[in-house]
Amino acid sequence: MSLVERALQKVQAGEAAKRLAAKPVVEPTIGKLVAGTVPPAAEREPAYAANRMVTLDRDAMRAAGLLPQPDRDREIADQYRAIKRPLIQAAFQAEQPEGPPQKLIMVASALPGDGKTFTGLNLALSMALEKDHSVLLVDGDVIKPHVSKLLGVEDEPGLLDLLTDPTLSIDSVILPTDVPRLSVLPAGRHTEHATELLSSERMTQVVAQLARLSARGIVLFDSLPLLLTSEARVLTSLMGQVVLVVKANVTPQDAVKDAIELIGDRRLWLVLNQAEVHGTSGYYYGSQYGYRKPYGQGGPDAASSS
Ligand SMILES: Nc1ncnc2c1ncn2[C@@H]1O[C@H](COP(=O)(O)OP(=O)(O)OP(=O)(O)O)[C@@H](O)[C@H]1O
Ligand SMILES: [Mg+2]
Repeated sequence: MSLVERALQKVQAGEAAKRLAAKPVVEPTIGKLVAGTVPPAAEREPAYAANRMVTLDRDAMRAAGLLPQPDRDREIADQYRAIKRPLIQAAFQAEQPEGPPQKLIMVASALPGDGKTFTGLNLALSMALEKDHSVLLVDGDVIKPHVSKLLGVEDEPGLLDLLTDPTLSIDSVILPTDVPRLSVLPAGRHTEHATELLSSERMTQVVAQLARLSARGIVLFDSLPLLLTSEARVLTSLMGQVVLVVKANVTPQDAVKDAIELIGDRRLWLVLNQAEVHGTSGYYYGSQYGYRKPYGQGGPDAASSS
């Protein structure tokens, strides 16, 4: 029995199974695509050919719980700053380790609903504040393209179209947003072979092209739950860094361990999502991160901060 099958067996019991069986949350829309308008040249990173741009509605994001209420803005911004800093540092450090570029970052989780999309979106917004860098948020969840849905670009061509049509140019499907230095690659139009395409040789080429788009650009991938799809595991092998989102007090410990094992030899960061933060009322984002050195470099070594 494979590791994935064993992991699946485990999650089929208990709380995790309830979550899998739960009805999918209907995602609100927080953005829309506006034709005939593009951001100023200085903010067009990476290059793209589109004459359209996604506008984000901050109020709708707050109403949907995707952004904090104004009184928590600062605290939450600090948390995402703490999470992004080491990721950016690793992405652009002079000495790059062997393997995929560290600027390719996947937001992963063991199970559905742990907070990948939420974390990915907030991390992308936080990274886009960095004047020296740009961020391309890729909707790599081709089964539940929540990023694309949220941004109102669900029916736009994107990753899947690039995978099925090698003649399509990447910059024709990247959409700029009205947030300076943030652009989006939608999941693309659904095909029944969506997950197989994610693990295809063509995907390796597309990811390599995405990494070359901008010298100072970060490419952040939202993804499928690791323990449910082998394709998500293939995606980790193409990434330089993986951010594993763990839902505090919910994601079973075994599932986290199995996910870490599946990720294998990659720079791995853990984000403890929705942790109850002492001293604040109730719980909201609450993130902590830890970094485990890749196997073969001294074994697990977690550091944490809040
Ligand atoms: N830190 C957080 N604070 C508040 N709400 C959160 C937080 N993280 C996640 N959520 C909410 O929890 C729900 C699940 O999160 P999200 O969609 O990001 O999970 P996911 O891992 O992407 O799930 P899936 O695997 O189904 O795509 C969403 O409604 C999201 O808005
Ligand atoms: Mg998601």
